[in-house]
Amino acid sequence: MNHFELRDGELYCEDVPLAVIAQAVGTPVYVYSTATFERHYTVLREALEAEGVRDPLIAFAVKANSNLAVLRTLAKLGAGADTVSEGEIRRALAAGVPPERIVFSGVGKTRAEIAFALEAGVCEINVESEPEMLAIAQVAQSLGKRATIAFRVNPDVAAGGHAKIATGKSENKFGVSFAEAERLYAQASNNAWLKPVGVACHIGSQITDLAPMAEAFEKMAGLVRRLKGEGLHVERLDLGGGLGVPYFNQPEPPSPADYAKVVAQATRGLDVTLAFEPGRVIAANAGVLLAQVVHVHERPEGRRFLVLDAAMNDLLRPAMYDAYHDIRAVRPREGEAKPYDVVGPVCETGDTFTRDRALPAFESGDLVAFMSAGAYGASMASEYNSRPLVPEVMVKGGDYAIVRPRPTYDEMLARETPAPWL
Ligand code: LLP
Repeated sequence: MNHFELRDGELYCEDVPLAVIAQAVGTPVYVYSTATFERHYTVLREALEAEGVRDPLIAFAVKANSNLAVLRTLAKLGAGADTVSEGEIRRALAAGVPPERIVFSGVGKTRAEIAFALEAGVCEINVESEPEMLAIAQVAQSLGKRATIAFRVNPDVAAGGHAKIATGKSENKFGVSFAEAERLYAQASNNAWLKPVGVACHIGSQITDLAPMAEAFEKMAGLVRRLKGEGLHVERLDLGGGLGVPYFNQPEPPSPADYAKVVAQATRGLDVTLAFEPGRVIAANAGVLLAQVVHVHERPEGRRFLVLDAAMNDLLRPAMYDAYHDIRAVRPREGEAKPYDVVGPVCETGDTFTRDRALPAFESGDLVAFMSAGAYGASMASEYNSRPLVPEVMVKGGDYAIVRPRPTYDEMLARETPAPWL
C-alpha cells in the first residue's frame, strides 16, 4: 500500500497534489511519501516480530535511496543502514543512524574505506573475499582497532528479477563459497585483529518467488550450525535484502508476512540475531518521478511518441533493466487509451521508458508520474547530457520540503576547474 492516490480527478502524494509540487519545484522531480516509507518499514518489522524474530536489525540498503531525509525518516523508526561505500556510511551517520546499526558490504572496499568504517565503529564489515579479509586485518592492526566482521557467503542460488541484479550464483562476483567461509571463519577467529560475529548473504533483487530465498536461508542456517559445531562463536546471521515489489502488472511479490514465515522457518532454534538489508521493498512504492509532456509527436506512419522532460539520466531502470514502471497522468483526461512510446530528450535510442503502452490521452504540458520510482531512481540519476541532477521532494501529510534542490546551471559548471594550460 502507498499514499499516492487520485482524489477528485488528480493524483496526490498524501495530502499534497502532485501538480502543486510540479508548479513550485519544476519537473522532472522525485516526490516521496513519508507515510509510505514509515508503513513499509513498520510492516516488515512487525511481520518479522509476529514470527518470533526478536529484535532484528533492519538495515535499509542506502543504495536504493540515499537521500538524507529518507534515511532520517527511517532512522527515527530504529532502522539501521546497509552501506557499500564511505559515502554511504557518511550519509547514514549524517542521517543519525547509530554506527552500531551500520553494516558495511561491497566487493571492493578500499583500505581508506575500511579505515573509515573502523574509526566510525560500524557494527559489521561484511567480508567478500580472502584478500579483503587480510586487508581488513592489516588496516585494523595499523589502527589498533579490532574489526568486527561477518562473511558474505555466495549461496549459489539463482534469484532476482533480471540478470544484472542477480548476485547469488557462484559465477557472480559477490561473496565466498561455503567451504571458504568455514576455512576463513576459523582463520579469522585466531587473528587478534579480527572478530568474526556472523555470516551474511544477499542473493539478488526484485525476487518474487520465495523458493530461492528459502533455499538460501536454509543453506545459511546449515552453515551457522556447522560453524557453531566447530566451536566457533556466531551471534549474527544477515539475510540480505531482495524482496520484490509490485511494479503494477509484474509478477505479484510475496507479502512481508510470507517472507517472515520463510525466515522464521529456516532460522528456528539457531540462537543468533537476524539482520536484513531491504532496499526496494521499503523505498520503491514510496516515491514517484514527476515529469511533464514536452510534445506529443505522431508520426504519419502511426507511432505516437510522448516526449517528456524526464530522461534516462533521471530514471535509468527502464533503459538498463527493461524495467516496467506504471505511468499515470497526474490529471487524467477523458477519452480512449492509445498506444504511446514514452521517451526522454536524451540523444540515445535507449532513452525510451516504454513502447506501445496503452495510456490515456495526453497533451503537451500535461504532468506524468512514473510510479514505484522511490528505489534505484534518484540514487542512480546522473547529469548525462548536462541535465542538472534531478531534485527530490519529501511530503509529510499536507507539507512538503525540497530535500535536494535542483542545481542551477551555474552551480553545475562551477564544480569544474579549468586545467592551468587552458
Ligand atoms: N544488500 C546488498 C548486499 C545488496 O547488494 C543489495 C542490492 C541490497 C541489500 C538491497 O536489495 P533490495 O532489497 O533493494 O532488492 N539498481 C537495481 C537494483 C540493484 C540491487 C543491488 N543490490 C534496480 O534498479 O533494480
